[in-house]
Amino acid sequence: MQTNQLIDILNRDLADEHAATLRYLVHSYFEGEDNEFGAPILSRAREEMWHMHWLGMVIGKLGGEPELVPAKYPFDPSNRGSILQSYIDYEENLVPHYNKEAEQVDDSHIKRVLEREAWESGIHAQKFRKMLDKLSTEDAKTLPGAEAELPEEFLNTLQQEVAAKYSNMLTHIRDSWVFQKQGISGWKLMDQAMEMMKQLAHFTEDVAENGLYPQLEVEEVERQTDLTAALSNKEETLKQSLARHEALQKQDETQKHKGFLLNLDLTIRQEAYQIAELQDMRKNK
Ligand SMILES: [Fe+2]
Ligand SMILES: [Fe+2]
Repeated sequence: MQTNQLIDILNRDLADEHAATLRYLVHSYFEGEDNEFGAPILSRAREEMWHMHWLGMVIGKLGGEPELVPAKYPFDPSNRGSILQSYIDYEENLVPHYNKEAEQVDDSHIKRVLEREAWESGIHAQKFRKMLDKLSTEDAKTLPGAEAELPEEFLNTLQQEVAAKYSNMLTHIRDSWVFQKQGISGWKLMDQAMEMMKQLAHFTEDVAENGLYPQLEVEEVERQTDLTAALSNKEETLKQSLARHEALQKQDETQKHKGFLLNLDLTIRQEAYQIAELQDMRKNK
């Protein structure tokens, strides 16, 4: 198979794994991540992130541009039962899909990754099946969800932060894959991206706990081919993010929510740290 063809195939898989990550993540936030429904679904979301990462690393190594727009995740949203059945169908379909792709490639690592995505999808299907079997009739007929408690304007602000952090995080991940051959920089960017995932989770959970679908939409992902320019742009984006968060910290509404305030303080400190690290990386790379 030609490299371009292989990159196209892997990019379609990447978009699917991205879709699964978002679907399970958002579902788990609606359920609440620390209960019998939310916790196992969050666990699946994390495994889908590995699946994304392995594919992204291979695409970057092959010199490809990773596809960062997620595919659609088809599911029947009627109730918990129908949703879980959709997840089972989705994961079961991936087993022959990935096995077939694995047969077509010669590279031992790529083959192993695709085979693993196949068998882990099979295990995901089994785990969702177990959840569905355990659901009470009442729970199977209903949907998770909550009423909005926070004011609309504040929730809109949080939604904007979800969208901004999500895009910034994706840019970091993309660069960690694309610049993987340029010393330690790629790894450092992935390290920062993991912190950003946590920061994103703080905003996203609050949005979902208020019954809203989090605005996890790709706004803008820069596709830099030059590492120095990428680092410089990241620094600028993070400075803007930090300034917005410092302003948000001072708002009266923010001051009313102690838990949120604590997480925001953490994010602000981490952003300042990341900016300083990026400056050093640009100087020393
Ligand atoms: Fe997966
Ligand atoms: Fe899966």
